[in-house]
Amino acid sequence: MKKDLNIVVIEGTTRAQRQSMVVAEFLADVGKSRAGVSVTLVDPAELTLPGDGNDPEAKDPKYTKITEQADAFFIVVPEYNHSFSGSLKRLLDSELQNYIHKPVALAGVSAGPWGGTRAVESLVPVVRELGMAVTFTDVFFPSVQNIFNEDGSPKEEFVRQNVEKAYDELIWMAQALKYGRENL
Ligand SMILES: Cc1cc2nc3c(=O)[nH]c(=O)nc-3n(C[C@H](O)[C@H](O)[C@H](O)COP(=O)(O)O)c2cc1C
Repeated sequence: MKKDLNIVVIEGTTRAQRQSMVVAEFLADVGKSRAGVSVTLVDPAELTLPGDGNDPEAKDPKYTKITEQADAFFIVVPEYNHSFSGSLKRLLDSELQNYIHKPVALAGVSAGPWGGTRAVESLVPVVRELGMAVTFTDVFFPSVQNIFNEDGSPKEEFVRQNVEKAYDELIWMAQALKYGRENL
C-alpha cells in the first residue's frame, strides 16, 4: 500500500550569485506535481552550521527536523573545481542517523559542458557512507546559465522528462525503503 512521501530537495551552495538555485526550484516544482508527494526545499544559506561535524552544537535544529521527517532526498550538486561545494559537505555532515535507509537522487550543475558529472560521481561515496541508497537516474544541467527561461522553466522539454524519470525511480525507492523502515 502506497504512503504519502516527504521529499527534501537540497540546494548545494550558499554562493550569492548561484545559478543552481534555478535547478533546485525546478526540481521542487516538478516534485510537488507528483501525487502523494510533498516537497521541502532546503537552502543552506538560511541555516546556521557553526564548526564541523555532527555533535549537537554543530547542527541546525531546522535541518535536523527536516531530515527526521524526510523519506527521500534530491540533492543539487554544483560543480566546484571538479567536485562538490564545501557548504554541501558541511550540511550533509551535520546529520547521520536521519539519512539511513533513505534514497537519494543527484542532480549535477555546471557552467561548463559536463553538467556536474564529476561532482556527482565524487558525492556518491559520501552519501553511501551516510547510509543513503543512491539512485542510478542522475540528471545533469550543463551550461546552466543558458538552459532555463526567465520564468525558471527549461528551454528544452527533454530536461523536464529526465527529471520526471529521476522522480519515478526516487519515489519507487522511497516507497520500498519506507516500507522497510516501518515493517522490517
Ligand atoms: C569555486 C568554483 C569552482 C567552479 N569550478 C567549476 C568546474 O570545475 N567546472 C565547471 O564546469 N564549472 C565550475 N564552476 C562554475 C559552476 O559550476 C557554476 O557557477 C554553476 O552555475 C554551479 O554553481 P553555482 O550554483 O554556484 O552557480 C565553478 C564555480 C565556482 C564558484
